[in-house]
Amino acid sequence: MFRTLDILVLLILTFLACSNAEIITVKVADSGLDFNPQNATARKDDVISFLFVKGKHSLVQSDGPGVCTNSTTLTSLSSGIKSEGETYNFTVNQNNGAIYYFCDYGQHCLGGEWGVINVVSGNGGGSGSGSNGGKSSASVNVPNSLNFFLLFTITLFFFKSMI
Ligand SMILES: *[C@@H]1O[C@H](CO)[C@@H](O)[C@H](O)[C@H]1NC(C)=O
Ligand SMILES: *[C@@H]1O[C@H](CO)[C@@H](O)[C@H](O)[C@H]1NC(C)=O
Ligand SMILES: *[C@@H]1O[C@H](CO)[C@@H](O)[C@H](O)[C@H]1NC(C)=O
Repeated sequence: MFRTLDILVLLILTFLACSNAEIITVKVADSGLDFNPQNATARKDDVISFLFVKGKHSLVQSDGPGVCTNSTTLTSLSSGIKSEGETYNFTVNQNNGAIYYFCDYGQHCLGGEWGVINVVSGNGGGSGSGSNGGKSSASVNVPNSLNFFLLFTITLFFFKSMI
């Protein structure tokens, strides 16, 4: 049998092991029709938190850098029209490659309002890059609850087998 304390310690250790997903902030229309950073780097399960700074915008996935038409294959990134002060959170659901997106509102994309999420493999969360470096990225831990319970259960049985 486990004592409550043992389980508590396991719970904390498991939580720490799983909490490596990050929230990466990308500002929308921070300075004209732009995304800041335009090129963000992220890992699977990271959350890209788009913060709408000024005016109205609508983010949609495209199939390439600077492409101003909807993606024909991937349709997971789609914010709908958002106004200043609002946020749109997009969870990265692929292990690698690039996710391209643009602003579908008015002629914003032709004005240069498009961006890229470069997905890299590995742990530890991502960071922004580009004109403003990674300065607008926030490092906030988000536990992935499914991974959390899987790892917790595995750890529990591992410890049990040693007793
Ligand atoms: C592109 O996708 C957005 C969001 O899903 C949608 O509102 C818009 O009508 C689509 N545009 C075209 C040309 O299909
Ligand atoms: C997006 O995530 C941020 C940080 O967790 C949160 O403050 C915000 O309310 C979320 N926005 C939406 C629309 O869920
Ligand atoms: C972001 O990457 C695209 C290509 O994926 C490139 O055309 C663009 O210049 C880059 N932007 C910045 C600010 O580095």
